[in-house]
Amino acid sequence: MGYLEAAGVRKTFEVEEGEPTVAVEEFTLSMAEGEFVALLGPSGCGKSTVLNIMAGFLRPSAGHVLVEGQRVTAPGSDRGVVFQEHALFPWMRVLDNVTFGPRLRGVPRRERLEMGQRFVDLVGLTGFERHWPRQLSGGMKQRVAIARALTNDPKVLLMDEPFGALDAQNRRMMQDELVKIWAATKKTCLFVTHSIEEALLLADRVVTMTARPGRIKAVHEVSLARPRDDAAPAFVTLKRELADLLQQELPEEAGRVAGAESRGKRP
Ligand SMILES: Nc1ncnc2c1ncn2[C@@H]1O[C@H](COP(=O)(O)OP(=O)(O)OP(=O)(O)O)[C@@H](O)[C@H]1O
Ligand SMILES: [Mg+2]
Repeated sequence: MGYLEAAGVRKTFEVEEGEPTVAVEEFTLSMAEGEFVALLGPSGCGKSTVLNIMAGFLRPSAGHVLVEGQRVTAPGSDRGVVFQEHALFPWMRVLDNVTFGPRLRGVPRRERLEMGQRFVDLVGLTGFERHWPRQLSGGMKQRVAIARALTNDPKVLLMDEPFGALDAQNRRMMQDELVKIWAATKKTCLFVTHSIEEALLLADRVVTMTARPGRIKAVHEVSLARPRDDAAPAFVTLKRELADLLQQELPEEAGRVAGAESRGKRP
């Protein structure tokens, strides 16, 4: 039995007219404690749906999700979630944002602030405790969101394209930071992305999904030591393999362009 398990998960969405949308079908995945898995797939293939089911924001139409053997039926502090849009409270300073969960749980102020400071330090925001979210860059806001998810000491960290809105340079920096944070906390992480490179830089395993209805198409182990070198031959080989897999899932014309881009060529 895995630490985080999804078994036969299926999700259909009712639509006003016509057939219901089957977003995800037969999604089965077992993650070990401390494992980092990237969920990769084309836009609309059901990645966020899977993540939202694991988070307990959505109920599956069939199948189930277990965290340490406990069935997920609602959101809970055992699962920390980080989204693409930093969902910070704009009226709270950094440290108050980070300690929001513990405050809700009634953790005494002193303990709460100590804990908050530890995670602010961990994500590299020392000195910004009293800043407002609007005074931070996109990358810094995502650091706050990660720190906030970690202060609940969740069993599992679920991240949905958390660096998708960042420019290339910041994104790369945050990827390196996340590897460090993961090494320091050893959280079990599920990370949604549609960047092959990002998946390969971060994950122990890359799970590739088909186009809608999303099913698991392939699972790749990435046994390269971290921090990873994206120019290493093994990295490049895996990248090409995943690009070919993803290309099969795209409409013909779009597939040709995206495939060429991911190989670093102009179409
Ligand atoms: N609340 C909803 N109601 C109806 N259909 C939905 C709903 N949420 C998602 N869908 C549909 O389910 C499918 C999967 O959506 P989902 O957001 O999970 O994809 P995704 O892989 O996260 O895409 P992206 O990479 O663009 O974020 C899409 O076809 C989408 O239109
Ligand atoms: Mg999504």
